[in-house]
Amino acid sequence: MPYQQITLEILAAFKAIVGDANVIANHDDLERYSHDETEDLRYYPEVVTKPNMPQQVAELLKLCNINSIPVTPRGAGTGLSGGALPIMGGLVISMERFNQIINIDEANLQATVEPGVVTETFMNAVAEKGLLYPVDPASKGSCFIGGNVSHGSGGPRVVKYGTIREYVLNLEVVLPNGEIIWTGANTLKYASGYNLTQLFIGSEGTLGIVTKIVTKLIPAPTIDALLMASFATNETACAAVSAIFRAGIIPSALEFMERRGVEWVIEHDGINFTLQNGIEAFLLIEVDGTNQDVIFDACEKINAVLEAYNCKDVLFADTAAQKDELWKLRRIMGVSVKSNSVYKEEDTVVPRAALPQLIKGIKEIGLKYGFESVCYGHAGDGNLHVNIIKGEMSDADWHHKLKDGIREIFELTIKLGGTLSGEHGIGLVQKEFMPLKYSELHLNLMRGIKAVFDPNGIMNPGKIF
Ligand code: MLT
Ligand code: ZN
Repeated sequence: MPYQQITLEILAAFKAIVGDANVIANHDDLERYSHDETEDLRYYPEVVTKPNMPQQVAELLKLCNINSIPVTPRGAGTGLSGGALPIMGGLVISMERFNQIINIDEANLQATVEPGVVTETFMNAVAEKGLLYPVDPASKGSCFIGGNVSHGSGGPRVVKYGTIREYVLNLEVVLPNGEIIWTGANTLKYASGYNLTQLFIGSEGTLGIVTKIVTKLIPAPTIDALLMASFATNETACAAVSAIFRAGIIPSALEFMERRGVEWVIEHDGINFTLQNGIEAFLLIEVDGTNQDVIFDACEKINAVLEAYNCKDVLFADTAAQKDELWKLRRIMGVSVKSNSVYKEEDTVVPRAALPQLIKGIKEIGLKYGFESVCYGHAGDGNLHVNIIKGEMSDADWHHKLKDGIREIFELTIKLGGTLSGEHGIGLVQKEFMPLKYSELHLNLMRGIKAVFDPNGIMNPGKIF
């Protein structure tokens, strides 16, 4: 069914549902909602609404469903795959006013939170109670927990603690027809038929809109150690990654950074870090726990592995300030690299022992197509963010030839047993590559699931497949 435009009558109905102050229809004010953090793409919605109650979301969706108006749900707009871009116009439902932590249940180690809560705000609130919510994407200070659910987010601590999939127990969701459901139960186990909670995680707003999230919490570790290891080549750094696990260690973070990324962070953000000559790559390694001896033993084992893999230097962070500085270096790398140039970002993920082949292949593909790439990311998960830099590339090559290079990167990723995205999602910009990995049968199963929830196709149309 073709989509309809938002008439004055429907606009008036939106205002009646959420109040005049929570409806935006003015072109200048819509600008903020026309982009996320994906490349330089812009799509204007016709209208933005900012509800703060599930019943309001239900009324909005019901109206859009009846009138065939495309709806794009939006969190903080920090996404990197274009999932929040309203490519068909229509209505953006911004979840920014769903910003309450409803309850932290210390007896059950659970919390109920609204989707528009900034991830770090939630982490800090549970930390005050000695608890840990460990899903902390690099953008934790600005992203929303609802957006994290939509993308199946990860971050540096996934390697030990798992992705958001391990923490969401139950979701309140408004379906496109306006019905409100809970997807599961507030329990640690769930063997009661299809797991709708897991289906909604990572569905990128294509099935419904999450209005409450019940998460698991865990006791917080009390001690950690952080070290930065330098290597002469990308490949030796990547080869050391799987050896650390084989030595019996599960670090709480194991991040890879290329020299170029570190240089740009130092130049642009004044981070205090001395780059030695002859160093091409770094591993940032954290171990945490509650027992100093265990941490000490883990550091010794890691050190032995690093030595065996020709590590040139190991910097142990002695103070909390030094740890913060090293983490800042890693966390702002994405922003820093992107502020340097027009870019495209891929979110490759492979089984971790294949990382050396992945990084080697990415560099060879770059040479073949004439692009520079800066790679960093969650090496412990085999998850490498590949930032392709426009640099000196001509506009024509950037817009046409580059596609073939990206396709080759994905072909290599898949050949190595990996897939298209580890944590950024498919959204708009990666969907054309889905057939590289998934058969028509597979994609049709996904389309069939969508049709059950959203028969009129109003929810975030044009995303994933
Ligand atoms: C990161 O790990 O830094 C994030 O996923 C964001 C990014 O790649 O820009
Ligand atoms: Zn990441």
